[in-house]
Amino acid sequence: MKAETPHLKRMKKWYGGALVASLFMLLVLRYNVMKNPVEQSYLTNSFTINGTNPLEWVRFTGPPAVQNPDSASQVISLDTIASRLFAQRNLSKGEQHSLLTWNLLKHLINHSQALPNGVEAIKEAGSAWNNLMASVEEEKLGYAHDNSSRKAKEKQCPHFLNRMNATESDKSHYKLRVPCGLTQGSSITIIGIPDGLLGNFRIDLTGEALPGEPDPPIILHYNVRLHGDKITEDPVIVQNSWTIAHDWGEEERCPVPTDDNKKVDELDQCNKLVGKEDNRTHGSRRSSMGLGLNSRRYFPFKQGSLFVATLRVGSEGIQMTVDGKHVTSFAYRETLEPWLVSEVRISGDVKLISAVASGLPTSEDSDHTVDIEALKSLPLSRGSPVDLFIGVFSTANNLKRRMAVRRTWMQYPEVRSGTAAVRFFVGLHKNQIVNQELWNEARTYGDIQLMPFVDYYSLITWKTLAICTFGTEVVSAKFVMKTDDDAFVRVDEVLASLSRINVTHGLLHGLINSDSQPHRSTDSKWFISPEEWSEDKYPPWAHGPGYVVSRDIAKAVYERFNEGRLKMFKLEDVAMGIWIADMKKEGLEVRYEKEERIFNEGCRDGYVIAHYQGPREMMCLWQKLQETKRARCCGDP
Ligand SMILES: *[C@@H]1O[C@H](CO)[C@@H](O)[C@H](O)[C@H]1NC(C)=O
Ligand SMILES: *[C@@H]1O[C@H](CO)[C@@H](O)[C@H](O)[C@H]1NC(C)=O
Ligand SMILES: *[C@@H]1O[C@H](CO)[C@@H](O)[C@H](O)[C@H]1NC(C)=O
Ligand SMILES: *[C@@H]1O[C@H](CO)[C@@H](O)[C@H](O)[C@H]1NC(C)=O
Ligand SMILES: *[C@@H]1O[C@H](CO)[C@@H](O)[C@H](O)[C@H]1NC(C)=O
Ligand SMILES: *[C@@H]1O[C@H](CO)[C@@H](O)[C@H](O)[C@H]1NC(C)=O
Ligand SMILES: *[C@@H]1O[C@H](CO)[C@@H](O)[C@H](O)[C@H]1NC(C)=O
Repeated sequence: MKAETPHLKRMKKWYGGALVASLFMLLVLRYNVMKNPVEQSYLTNSFTINGTNPLEWVRFTGPPAVQNPDSASQVISLDTIASRLFAQRNLSKGEQHSLLTWNLLKHLINHSQALPNGVEAIKEAGSAWNNLMASVEEEKLGYAHDNSSRKAKEKQCPHFLNRMNATESDKSHYKLRVPCGLTQGSSITIIGIPDGLLGNFRIDLTGEALPGEPDPPIILHYNVRLHGDKITEDPVIVQNSWTIAHDWGEEERCPVPTDDNKKVDELDQCNKLVGKEDNRTHGSRRSSMGLGLNSRRYFPFKQGSLFVATLRVGSEGIQMTVDGKHVTSFAYRETLEPWLVSEVRISGDVKLISAVASGLPTSEDSDHTVDIEALKSLPLSRGSPVDLFIGVFSTANNLKRRMAVRRTWMQYPEVRSGTAAVRFFVGLHKNQIVNQELWNEARTYGDIQLMPFVDYYSLITWKTLAICTFGTEVVSAKFVMKTDDDAFVRVDEVLASLSRINVTHGLLHGLINSDSQPHRSTDSKWFISPEEWSEDKYPPWAHGPGYVVSRDIAKAVYERFNEGRLKMFKLEDVAMGIWIADMKKEGLEVRYEKEERIFNEGCRDGYVIAHYQGPREMMCLWQKLQETKRARCCGDP
């Protein structure tokens, strides 16, 4: 695919680390949990779990014939959760503004199995929501006579943590609590010396254990074995993940045993030079490396030698640098995303000298935000007419990105005046503190739509649905646009293009791709099974960082969903293309209007939409627009 959508790009990661077969195994297990009694009877005859071809298993995208004794209770508990999620709450008007789409998405409960992790996402949201509502109640009751607790809360998402914040249970077991998760750009630097007899130690990034479960999921397990293990006698680094449902995943070893060295964020999964130290021309490791003898193998950790190791959170995975050299990359695994990390655990034969976590997502101290009034959004009431409704995908701890959007392109006069309206679509977080921050932010700025599910990446298509719902059922928009919180949108230009195009029905406007195919090789990171999409080609679709549909299409998306005839597909931008193609088949006259000035892989001068822009670039782009009236890029050309 020439220009990848970021969503496709991020999809790659799921297929990165794990064998496709094992992924299918996960899917099968997951569907087992999602049992739907109607499907079950249909599936019981046609499905056997003992096939050897994993593709066969997926054909029926349903549960295996093996009876799951828990299935009945699982169904019931989902209902219970649904009733909690959608229960009437005693909330103020301002608070209700962030829930305008919430009840309209009720139907998701009955369709939660259509996308990977849907059922978990709703269940987890159920308990997160209960906790959040309890704390909101508590705060309301306690607010008048205890202002200090709120102050204390604001400091709960620190930007920086160090070893002083770690708890040490014994000499070789440290836990550093990361209260508000990690985000792209966060890093954890550990200085230590491998010691002890075996020189084996591990660094684990763990999430929150679910209620009633003893062990938390491990998003990254980084295990250094200086004297090898069962498989090798040579030193090795083993990376993996663990969850209660799926146990250990597939090990990623460094050095890589086969030629299968994948790229994650454009870096090798394992640096090719890592291996057993070549000691024929014996000398200090450091000096031989320093001399630029590039082909010499080395192992980055050594008994008794100080190391400086940094784990950095990238967009597709986590990179480890040791003594300034890239060593490993670990692609995120399904449902194990960096925002879930709540603790760094270091244990084993290592003397820890220092541990520092920085670049952590932090909440802005609203007492020091001088421009709150200018950043607040106009309240929208049911049926408000707007020309363009823009829904922005965002996740709970991306506060900085949202602030940058508020300070830049949400300041266009078209947005301030209400011609265009912008809302962020944010799922719940599993962490209570983060949800509280999000709730406060939603109350403060009035521009957030909370989603009744936890924000797994596999569910972004639900957000597309939510945006269509908001644009048609909450406000009455002529056009509905979807974008991302790292995209800079020139709202004035989008409106100008729409009026130039002068089409109000059947419109898809954006960077349209009319010639793309699903990846069919099971080795492909982007593998799409024939069950997910059976045709050889995708219908035309527009890249995710910014596309616009006309009201009739958005409305049909919402209605078809409610009628249970909206096909769910995990690549949201392709999904929109698929939906529109279905409408076309049923007689809708569709106009695909391509906009070449949408740059989905960065910025080019003259952009209408520039993607992958961090908060600093956003401010810079805005400033250039103000000063020069021209769409000039910042940073990389
Ligand atoms: C698979 O099923 C066949 C018959 O249905 C049976 O003979 C075979 O032993 C099974 N294989 C496994 C691995 O269970
Ligand atoms: C809802 O809240 C208001 C004010 O906070 C209170 O007066 C009212 O009794 C509450 N209603 C219910 C049903 O709890
Ligand atoms: C879900 O399905 C059940 C049974 O089919 C139905 O009674 C219920 O109303 C549905 N709920 C929603 C929110 O659509
Ligand atoms: C607590 O904060 C509220 C609002 O900021 C203020 O009106 C009230 O006086 C404060 N109460 C105390 C005890 O400081
Ligand atoms: C971390 O430790 C430093 C130094 O002891 C302290 O100032 C800071 O408040 C701690 N932060 C947290 C979040 O505990
Ligand atoms: C090189 O390494 C091997 C195995 O690790 C060891 O037996 C040998 O003594 C080493 N040679 C030198 C010169 O250190
Ligand atoms: C827009 O289209 C309508 C009918 O399709 C036409 O009457 C009108 O003149 C067009 N407006 C412009 C500005 O081209």
